[in-house]
Amino acid sequence: MGGVNLDRPPDENTQERALPATIVVGTQWGDEGKGKFTDLFAKEMHVVVRYQGGHNAGHTLVVDGETFALQLIPSGILYDHITPVIGNGVVVDPRVLLEEVDVLERKGIDCSRLRVSSNAHLILPYHQLLDRVTERYLGKNKLGTTKRGIGPAYADKAARVGLRVQDMYDPKIFRQKLEVVLKEKGQLLAKVYNQLPPTVDEICDLYLGELAPRVRPYVADTVDLVHEALEAGRHVLFEGAQATFLDLDHGTYPYVTSSNPVAGGACTGAGVGPRHIDRVVGVAKAYVTRVGSGPFPTELFDEAGDALVERGHEYGTNTGRRRRAGWFDAVMLRHAVRLNSLSEVAITKLDVLDAFDTVRVCVAYEAEGRRLDRFPDDQSLLHKVRPVYEELPGWRTDLTGATEPSDLPPEARDYLDFLEKQVGVPIRLVGVGPGREQFVQRTP
Ligand code: IMP
Repeated sequence: MGGVNLDRPPDENTQERALPATIVVGTQWGDEGKGKFTDLFAKEMHVVVRYQGGHNAGHTLVVDGETFALQLIPSGILYDHITPVIGNGVVVDPRVLLEEVDVLERKGIDCSRLRVSSNAHLILPYHQLLDRVTERYLGKNKLGTTKRGIGPAYADKAARVGLRVQDMYDPKIFRQKLEVVLKEKGQLLAKVYNQLPPTVDEICDLYLGELAPRVRPYVADTVDLVHEALEAGRHVLFEGAQATFLDLDHGTYPYVTSSNPVAGGACTGAGVGPRHIDRVVGVAKAYVTRVGSGPFPTELFDEAGDALVERGHEYGTNTGRRRRAGWFDAVMLRHAVRLNSLSEVAITKLDVLDAFDTVRVCVAYEAEGRRLDRFPDDQSLLHKVRPVYEELPGWRTDLTGATEPSDLPPEARDYLDFLEKQVGVPIRLVGVGPGREQFVQRTP
C-alpha cells in the first residue's frame, strides 16, 4: 500500500451532499449569538440537541418581534417539526426546566416534543449553595460564575457522587444516594461555610414529590433517539452552550466553565462518535466580549469599549452583568478553528461596528519581545500578551437592512474578507441585527 495522497481533491459526491449532523459552537467566551444561527439552521433540522452546560447559558431569540430568552431548553423548541433534546452531557435543574416549559407554553409554544436524557445529571439545591459560598470565599480570586450550581454539579459527576435524572424514578436509590452525598456536603456547608444544609427529606419532597412526575413525560433514552434519527437520514443539530475559550480543557483555565463546549463535547455529551459529524460551524462576534474574570488580550477600557457594550447591548441575558468588550481577535479564532475542526465561521453583530471610523483586528500577540501568531498554552504568558492590531477603514453605514452581500459597503466586505483570510476558513453567514431574518449569506 502506498501513502495517503493528501493532494487528492475531495470526492465530488461528498462535496455538496446533505449534511445530516452539524455542530454549532461558540468560538470566543460565549454570548456570540449562537442562538441566531441554530435558529436559522433549525428550518432544515429534525432534532436539536444541547450537549453540555446547564442554565448558565442564555440564548435570546427574536421571532416575529417577540423575544424568547431560553437558558436550558434548546432553541429548536420554537419549531413544530423539531424534537428538542437535552443530552446526557447537560446538567439539569428540573425546577428551571419546568419554569421554562411553563413560560413557553403560556406563550403558546407546545413543549410536549421536548426530550431529556435519563443520564443527564441533576443540579441539586446544595450545588447552587456551594457555587455561591465558594465564590464568596475565593474573594478577589473568584471566577465570576453564574452561581447556578454548574461547577459543583459537574464536580460531583466526576467524583461519581452525582444523581441523574433517572434516579428520580427509583425513589429508594435516589434517597440512598442523597443520604451518602449529603453526609459530606452537609458537614462541608455547615462547618466550613456556616450554611444550613438542606435535608434529605426536603430534597426528596421537592424532587420526588413535586418535580419528578412533571419531568417524567420528557425523559428518554436520547442516545437511541439521536441514532435512530441519524440512521433514518434525519438532520441533527448539536447546539453548544458557552464557548471554546470557556472549555474546561482548552479554555483559559481556571476562568472556564466545568464542561466541554468544544465540538468534541458534542460526541460525549450526546453519545455520537466523531465520524458522524459532517459540519462544524463556529460562531464569532465581529468583536469579542467576556463575562466574569480571566485574561482577555484585546479588552478595551476606553470609549471604543463603551461603544461596543452600548451598541451591542452587552449585558448578560441571564445575570444582567455588563460584559467586557474588545476588538476581534484572530489569534483566538485560528485556535478555535483547530480545536473544533471548524468547517466555517459565522459572524454575528457586524452592525455593531457601523458607528466606527476605523475598526481593528488583532492579528498576533506580542510578549517578552516576541511576536506570537498562535494562542499560547502558557497561561502566565497569556496574561502578559499585548495585541498587534491591523486597522481597517470603518463603513459608517447602517447595515441592519442588508440581506445580500452586495448590500454591504465595500469597507464592510473588506473587513469580512480580511477576517476570512486571518481565520483560514470560509465565512458564509453574517448577522446584521437581532431579528431572525437579519443576516447576509456570502458565497464561499
Ligand atoms: P459557570 O459556568 O457558572 O461555572 O461560570 C464559569 C465561567 O463561565 C464564568 O466566567 C461565567 O461568566 C462564564 N459563563 C458561563 N455561562 C456563560 C454563558 O452562557 N455566556 C458567557 N459566559 C458564560
